Amino acid sequence: MAPEEETAAEEARVERAVQKDGVAISVRNLKNSFGDQVVHEGLNLDVRKGEILGVVGGSGTGKSVLMRSIIGLQTPDEGEVHVFGESMIGRLDDEALAIRKRWGVLFQGGALFSTLTVAENVEVPIREYYPNIGPQLRDEIAAYKIRMTGLPAEAGPKYPAELSGGMKKRAGLARALALDPDLLFLDEPTAGLDPIGAAAFDEQTRRLQQTLGLTVFLITHDLDTLYSICDRVAVLADRQVTAVGTIDELLATDHPWIQEYFNGPRGRGAGRYGGGGAGTRQVRFSAAIGASATGQKAIRYGNPLQPCAGGYGHAAAAGGDHAGRLLVLAPVRWGEYGI
Ligand SMILES: Nc1ncnc2c1ncn2[C@@H]1O[C@H](COP(=O)(O)OP(=O)(O)OP(=O)(O)O)[C@@H](O)[C@H]1O
Ligand SMILES: [Mg+2]
Repeated sequence: MAPEEETAAEEARVERAVQKDGVAISVRNLKNSFGDQVVHEGLNLDVRKGEILGVVGGSGTGKSVLMRSIIGLQTPDEGEVHVFGESMIGRLDDEALAIRKRWGVLFQGGALFSTLTVAENVEVPIREYYPNIGPQLRDEIAAYKIRMTGLPAEAGPKYPAELSGGMKKRAGLARALALDPDLLFLDEPTAGLDPIGAAAFDEQTRRLQQTLGLTVFLITHDLDTLYSICDRVAVLADRQVTAVGTIDELLATDHPWIQEYFNGPRGRGAGRYGGGGAGTRQVRFSAAIGASATGQKAIRYGNPLQPCAGGYGHAAAAGGDHAGRLLVLAPVRWGEYGI
């Protein structure tokens, strides 16, 4: 590319970044189909930086396919996907790779590699994207991520088949967090968890989002999760995002599915504590945490991540143990390693 073309391309990139400031993910006019079955058509969605966006819709409406389209596992028939201002569809170049490094994904069902231990699973993205990180640092990072999700350290050498469903979810979350992502994709993270486990998982997601400034794309059927931690909710129906907004804003629409979903018996049950705002299950979580070993761990290991004016460095100073420093200083340390 000639220097002037390079400059023009760079200017265009900066311009896009400025335009997209405040938007982490932008999906425009998306179409996905499998044979005759059209799953999405003309689908548009913006995910704002720093928010937890809940994505809901009936089973089979295309929530997982939408996530796969955004992360590049599904090539859409039509449309545009931008992540942090970069067009992502069909891109394999370094800039797109740099964006991919900034996200972590928890797939529906966990998708752990069954022949790898939990620790080895967590190390997969580190090996893939940072091959020059040595085994010792890789092990340290994996061990910290495992503890950070509330799993005991002893879970590291276990294989997925030896874990309960909830432990598998946490192991999947640990892997999703391996690269200290800016953007987290969670597909049904609380499905199959008991209410205390689900509440702890929600609490942890909220804590990560608040302390690390994460943007979270959270597919869920869990009404408690929607009420407790989601800033906004996007509703998939009729092949599109038919509505997006706070739960109160959604309730003000007359879309039959939305009314049925939030005003049905389960929706009313989930909303009755918080009246449509945040904090429903968190209330119950706080009450339950004294009895929950995993919850206590989540809080203990969450301490180094308390938000503070100085950002990561101060958080690390406030943190204490070696594992805490490893997490919060990971970007710095990776810089030191010339990565
Ligand atoms: N690889 C594929 N090949 C063919 N059809 C597919 C494929 N992936 C998804 N589909 C179809 O696309 C539709 C949307 O699937 P998707 O998994 O996105 O649903 P969902 O909204 O995530 O549902 P659930 O809430 O049950 O997880 C379904 O009808 C599904 O059968
Ligand atoms: Mg799905």
